[in-house]
Amino acid sequence: MITIIGAGRVGSAAAFNILRYRISDVVLIDVFENLAKGEALDMMQTAPALEFDGKIVGTSDYSQMRDSELVIITAGEARKPGMTRLDLIKKNAGIVKSIVHEVAKYAPNCKIMMVTNPVDVMTYVAYKESGFKRNSVFGMGNILDTLRFRSYIALELKVSREDIRALAIGEHGDSMVPLTEYASVAGIPITRLLSKEQIEKIINMTITSGAEVISLKGSTVHAPAAAIAIMADAILRGRNRVMGVSTYLQGEYGFSDVAIGVPVVLGRNGVEKILELELLPETRKRLEKSVAIVREAISKLEEA
Ligand code: 2OP
Repeated sequence: MITIIGAGRVGSAAAFNILRYRISDVVLIDVFENLAKGEALDMMQTAPALEFDGKIVGTSDYSQMRDSELVIITAGEARKPGMTRLDLIKKNAGIVKSIVHEVAKYAPNCKIMMVTNPVDVMTYVAYKESGFKRNSVFGMGNILDTLRFRSYIALELKVSREDIRALAIGEHGDSMVPLTEYASVAGIPITRLLSKEQIEKIINMTITSGAEVISLKGSTVHAPAAAIAIMADAILRGRNRVMGVSTYLQGEYGFSDVAIGVPVVLGRNGVEKILELELLPETRKRLEKSVAIVREAISKLEEA
């Protein structure tokens, strides 16, 4: 069973994907009980049309998550006018800490997927606060970056998105690191098919496209919800899929005591393995900068 905490737009859309792709039953928890109940009821009524038998429960009762295999945390605030990034971090860290205590109480053997932003910092908070093993606590961010990276490579080359294989690592934010050296089209390195300028353009679009959606419609919903479902599927079905996931590092890539996106094998136990890839010097520099940005945010939080 999967529990999703936060029945806002991303949490609800993720619940719907998990049901309709028959990945798992879902418990949807929100402090606004009517919102969670209403979303659950609305989704339940789609079951005959979409032919799924999964159960969906909406509640504000944390004890309903008991024995969940995976708990996905989407609850938290989005930045409001006048709010700094740091204000948001402090506010959401408080929310995440209190939720993680409930998770540790009712589902002590689960995996925790953080979605609340800034996701790398919140993954760090959830890992420290839960006392769980590090393979069990991870953040969704890079898979979403990768979906965007793949979309823009396909668009530039005018080929099917399905044939694009790629990875993005680093912070889920402006300092993300789309890995140009490991992106391919049906196995052909993109560097053979695209110019440096074209690749730079794709990277910029990958980095800025989340903000573009937010400025157009207020928040991103469908792409993060799809990314959550991809990760949930990898875990619940033990598929050992390879993707960028925010993970607490203990020496990998030369970094420790920070959570940041790295390539992992994602399966039944969460992060089954961290893949340490050789990076081009320029990519390595980008990753170092990205780690420094996340570290700075974590240190501000710890000062508070
Ligand atoms: C996104 O990148 C806001 O993290 C969210 O769509």
